[in-house]
Amino acid sequence: MSTDGFTFSNLGRKIVDSENLPMDSEPEIVSLRPKKLCQYIGQKKTIETLKIGIEAARQRNEILDHVLFHGPPGLGKTTLAHIISNEIGGKLMVTSGPALEKGGDLIGMLTQLENGDVFFIDEIHRLSRSVEELLYPAMEDFCIDFVFDKGMHARSHRFRLKQFVLVGATTRVGLLSSPLRHRFGIFRNLDFYSTEDLETIVRRSAELLNQTIDGDGAVELAMRSRGTPRIANRLLKRVRDYAQVKSHGHIDRAAVVEALELEGVDALGLTPLDRQYLDTIITYYNGGPVGIEAVAATLQEETDTLVDVVEPFLLKIGLVVRTSSGRRASEAAFAHMGWDRGCAST
Ligand SMILES: Nc1ncnc2c1ncn2[C@@H]1O[C@H](COP(=O)(O)OP(=O)(O)OP(=O)(O)O)[C@@H](O)[C@H]1O
Ligand SMILES: [Mg+2]
Repeated sequence: MSTDGFTFSNLGRKIVDSENLPMDSEPEIVSLRPKKLCQYIGQKKTIETLKIGIEAARQRNEILDHVLFHGPPGLGKTTLAHIISNEIGGKLMVTSGPALEKGGDLIGMLTQLENGDVFFIDEIHRLSRSVEELLYPAMEDFCIDFVFDKGMHARSHRFRLKQFVLVGATTRVGLLSSPLRHRFGIFRNLDFYSTEDLETIVRRSAELLNQTIDGDGAVELAMRSRGTPRIANRLLKRVRDYAQVKSHGHIDRAAVVEALELEGVDALGLTPLDRQYLDTIITYYNGGPVGIEAVAATLQEETDTLVDVVEPFLLKIGLVVRTSSGRRASEAAFAHMGWDRGCAST
């Protein structure tokens, strides 16, 4: 069929051209995630364990043991899962505990995996009991057991899987059942980053964003990042905006201080929610001890948010102490919040 020399095949070629446009190959956003172990900053022992594990498996022509990362949000668990798949050269399949509602969801994903692929389950502590039980033989023997029919006619069939690496991530390792925990060969806790490591991360991210930053600016930003790379990268972007609009585009210490004051981030890196949390314990509960439920109710916040996001860093820097009778604000917390210890109740 042809009208004015215009055919359907021509039309097809006009609409979809097989040649790449320059913008097709551009990444949509600049990714600040390191892609290889050698680019990873901080968490030295974890990186060393992974390097050794990956190299040893490669030499023996085996696959890496299953890996579990736990630690507060934003410290690099997902990033490490990507890095492991890059290093061992397999595909990465990503899912999360709450997304795997039924056994069938898990079976569907596991059967698509090839030898050496990485299967990443985020928030693995939120897997349902039935899905978790299916995962045990999959992790240990690379097989799953299907049960057909019910009652008298029930039959079971064992299905072989390819040899994959399971990488699990969780912010709440305490909620993981012990059979699941024990099936991971490599088990690492990610801790908060030192100021020096965060400074290096800030410099690297600034370079990737084509942003100039001086030494004092990088240190100040690192000190206000709550020991967390995700926060460092987020604050860097805010300071970049501020420097672009309010000064000459260059980031120095003054730009960091002014921009972060606007963000409500103080000299220790505490956010408004962190300060409200401390203020509640100090003013409403006279410094504690107080149960987390009571603090959450007063703040009208989710208990999980306080436990997962707010408390780990405050505990780490010693502003809060956890006792058997509840949370207590430390002397340092009183001082940071501008309270004289004896005046809190008045
Ligand atoms: N060592 C590092 N060097 C540079 N950037 C890092 C590093 N670790 C993490 N990041 C950056 O921090 C961000 C958050 O990391 P990631 O998503 O891996 O955290 P997470 O532990 O999975 O957090 P969540 O528990 O919230 O899922 C990433 O986008 C990455 O850019
Ligand atoms: Mg993650």
